[in-house]
Amino acid sequence: MPQRTAWETEVGIPRVPEGIETPAVCLDLAVVLANVRRMQQALSAQGLRVRPHVKTHKSLRIGRLQIDAGAQGITAATVGEAEVFANGGFDDIFIAYPVWAGGSRGKRIRDLHERVSLRVGFDSIDGAEQLARAARGARPLNVLVEIDCGARRSGVPPSEAGPLAVAAARLGLRVLGVFTYAGHGDRSPEARLAAANDEVTELARAVESLRRAGFVEEEVSGGSTPTALLSARRPVTESRPGEYVFYDQNKVALGICQLEDVALVVATTVVSTAVPGQVILDVGTKALGREGSPDRGYGHVPAVPGSFLRLLNEHHGYLTVPDEVTRPRVGDVLAIVPNHACPIVNLFDEYTVLQDGREVDRWPIDARGRQR
Ligand SMILES: Cc1ncc(COP(=O)(O)O)c(C=O)c1O
Repeated sequence: MPQRTAWETEVGIPRVPEGIETPAVCLDLAVVLANVRRMQQALSAQGLRVRPHVKTHKSLRIGRLQIDAGAQGITAATVGEAEVFANGGFDDIFIAYPVWAGGSRGKRIRDLHERVSLRVGFDSIDGAEQLARAARGARPLNVLVEIDCGARRSGVPPSEAGPLAVAAARLGLRVLGVFTYAGHGDRSPEARLAAANDEVTELARAVESLRRAGFVEEEVSGGSTPTALLSARRPVTESRPGEYVFYDQNKVALGICQLEDVALVVATTVVSTAVPGQVILDVGTKALGREGSPDRGYGHVPAVPGSFLRLLNEHHGYLTVPDEVTRPRVGDVLAIVPNHACPIVNLFDEYTVLQDGREVDRWPIDARGRQR
């Protein structure tokens, strides 16, 4: 019987094929496709456009899978990410970030604006002035006002959306609508529900503010992996989930997905068993990042029951193994389910692509490192 995923066994333990070169960030293509289609179908069924955030995967190939599944366009975090995707043939891009268009960035935004359908976020008059300067002489640049729905990161209070839109329009920008990010929805199941409600309520307030200022909003953009399915209702028109392509241990803990929905693992080899009670893995902070702690651990190794990835050096991972469990041997290859997928992807040059339990391809992580 064909395996459902590359690493799922009868007991649901992620495994990667023997002989794989490690450390490697491995994706299971069947699971990626299932995740992409499920989210797209659920949001489309509610009448929303889907604009996945590509900062998670940074891959033209995966972005193409998302467009083929029905996504309207993509969301990027930086001008550099947007450039990589524009060069790769993506023609509808939203930089959902309060971009400061100073220095070379002004010219690069202008270039993008001339080549693709571009929209950019802003949450200040100063930011809008820079964007307007960048687009001067070209057709008006499409912008969305960022509002804060409770994450307390960026974005103005909803009641200020209208006045800010008026100021931006006076500068020559074309205000398409508003957007928000409910980053406070990933702490617990209750926080998730509350954040999704905040997203809808505060976006509705922002729409009111826009209308009072004389704007007819075209886009009301929200959504994140924890909140997307709960906030898929009016006035939201568009959703921007990112992590759902892969999910991770944090999302399993939040109850959004099961372990078998996790499409990305880090493959690692046991390189030392010299010290009793532990094994050393060939992954450290340079492969797994730092999202973890001595209390929580730095990732989950389901194939070794009761094990705990308690410490990382740059190139060493310390996996504590309980006395009653047989320790893996030097040379064994294990799968680590990461706490948070996004920062890990940015540490690797390529994905090792798995299908039916075999390595079938390597895909470049095209936009890795594009911070600017
Ligand atoms: C502005 C913005 N939109 C969308 C997302 C996607 O959220 P998630 O990765 O939880 O799906 C993010 C994530 O950081 C974001 O910053």
